[in-house]
Formats: sequence, structure tokens, C-alpha cells
Amino acid sequence: MPPKDMKIIAMGCMQCMYAASDLAGTMKLQYDGTVRIIRMPCTARLDINFILKALQEGADGVLVIGCHPGDCAYKTGNLGAERRVRFAKKLVGQLGMNEGRVRMVMVSAAEGDKFAAYINEFADEIRAIGPNPIRL
Ligand code: FES
Repeated sequence: MPPKDMKIIAMGCMQCMYAASDLAGTMKLQYDGTVRIIRMPCTARLDINFILKALQEGADGVLVIGCHPGDCAYKTGNLGAERRVRFAKKLVGQLGMNEGRVRMVMVSAAEGDKFAAYINEFADEIRAIGPNPIRL
């Protein structure tokens, strides 16, 4: 699959993910260009339907990026998101899709390098899994 045809959605919080992506840019780190970033105040806002809708609309993978445990500005928003991502993975599996299309990772605002590495690693995994079978 040519990279430009692949679509990956990265959803994460403003506090850590967005700051880390900004830092990655400042550090001039390159990360996969197929990723579209959607920021939210906290991953506590993450709804399972956001993940399912993204896949239904043709995303090949959804990466949720939250703060490290203990760093969430809303105390446990990231932990709740982690539980919802686990559940979303099961639903995706029951739909006959590879559960690897959905993943959650955690970064801090100071981890621009880790952010870029997670994005690249996930993009490589999705490339290996192949295109979304239910892409409209
Ligand atoms: Fe980052 Fe809650 S503020 S996950």
C-alpha cells in the first residue's frame, strides 16, 4: 500500500500528546505523514464511537495518545481511556478486523522523540496489517 493512501488517526490530549507533537516538530523529528492528529482536552473525552467511526470512515488505524499514569490533568482520564481502548480493540476483533488497528500509548509533553517513535512504529504496524477492509 503506498503510504499516501494510508490513513492513521492519532487522538490525544492537549496536555501531553499535542505538546509532544509540537516538540517533535521543534526538534525537527520526522514522523509518518499519513497521520492526522486530533486533539482533545483529555483522553477522558475519548468515546469508543470515535474509534469505530474513524475506522468506518476509512482510517486504517487509530492511535490514542494520553498522558502517563499520574500526569493526567483530570487525574484518571487516561486510565479510563485505556479501558475504553481495550474494549474497542475487542469490538474491532469481533467485527473481523485486526485488533492491532487500535492502540493506546502514553507520552509526556517532554517526549517529542517518543511521540515520533510511537507514530512511526504504529504506521509500520498498520502498513504490515494492510488496508482497512471496510474502507468505504
Ligand atoms: Fe492527558 Fe488526561 S490530560 S490524558
